[in-house]
Amino acid sequence: MNSFPKDLISIANLNQAQIIELVELAANLKANRKTHQKSLTGLTGGLLTTKPSLRTRLSFEIGLLELGAHSLFIRNDEVGLGVRESYEDVANVLSRYLSVLIVRSHDHKGLIDLAKHSTIPIINALTDEEHPCQALSDLLTIYEQFNRLKGVKLAYIGDGNNVCVSLMLASAIAGLEFTAITPTGTEPNKDTVNRASQLAKQNGTLAPNITNDPKAVLEADILYTDVWVSMGDEGKQKSKNIFQNYQINANLLNGKSIPVLHCLPAHKEEEISQEIFDKNKKLIFDQAENRLHMQKAILVKLLVENKSFDS
Ligand code: CP
Ligand code: NVA
Repeated sequence: MNSFPKDLISIANLNQAQIIELVELAANLKANRKTHQKSLTGLTGGLLTTKPSLRTRLSFEIGLLELGAHSLFIRNDEVGLGVRESYEDVANVLSRYLSVLIVRSHDHKGLIDLAKHSTIPIINALTDEEHPCQALSDLLTIYEQFNRLKGVKLAYIGDGNNVCVSLMLASAIAGLEFTAITPTGTEPNKDTVNRASQLAKQNGTLAPNITNDPKAVLEADILYTDVWVSMGDEGKQKSKNIFQNYQINANLLNGKSIPVLHCLPAHKEEEISQEIFDKNKKLIFDQAENRLHMQKAILVKLLVENKSFDS
């Protein structure tokens, strides 16, 4: 068995075999929601977030409960992560109380710091740089659509930030052909593109294609979009103008029927037209459901099957 890392901060913490194991386990947990129901008996998982969440918070909380663990929501306005108290001290204290800590925060480096100083697994529930749990569950959704991952052409259109970066890294490792279609100036950052290209090479995958041409959507097997203004970027509202040609709508698709994914929350008539959203509603809500099955798979792999970590 592949030994899983202690923490999941970036998709790049996982190798191809581990990603495939997670997708397979999540599919099994979806087929039989009651399997593993006692796997985490006696453990307590904490969820600490500095920004809002519907899917990530609830899918982790319900996932912990379904696996037999307790779930605690920790309010950051009381903890003051990195402000009232250092990441190091929070990590040391929570390692004495919890079996796993799931964190949503703007500060990606802060999460790396938490992981360094904690003895329990730290799971990234979204930072400004990555959303690994989202990308993993999206691989399950893509697998359900195509019955394979290798060679599937996935194109992301919109802001090349956290969700795009995790999909790009996940694709490089798992063998999807990834294209990021973004307005000039919002491309995924060069270091992560280089990292993805390296990972693609190691895994026998094509390097990611980065383009500013919205028409590149027509080459894809499946499309993906996300909000134009991410949490914490509200000050950049004005820059929405640069995305106007990057809306997924009937005009852009030019009569082609390409399935569309959206991590949600969606801003209809911004990144996606109401018409295209409605057409893909079942798929998009299946995608949201898959968050639950994948969070459970991640918890089982990190807490139960990882023999290097003694919970
Ligand atoms: N997709 C996603 O992460 O949703 P939430 O922000 O509601 O958790
Ligand atoms: N890019 C979005 C993703 C939300 C799940 C954000 O960071 O707000």
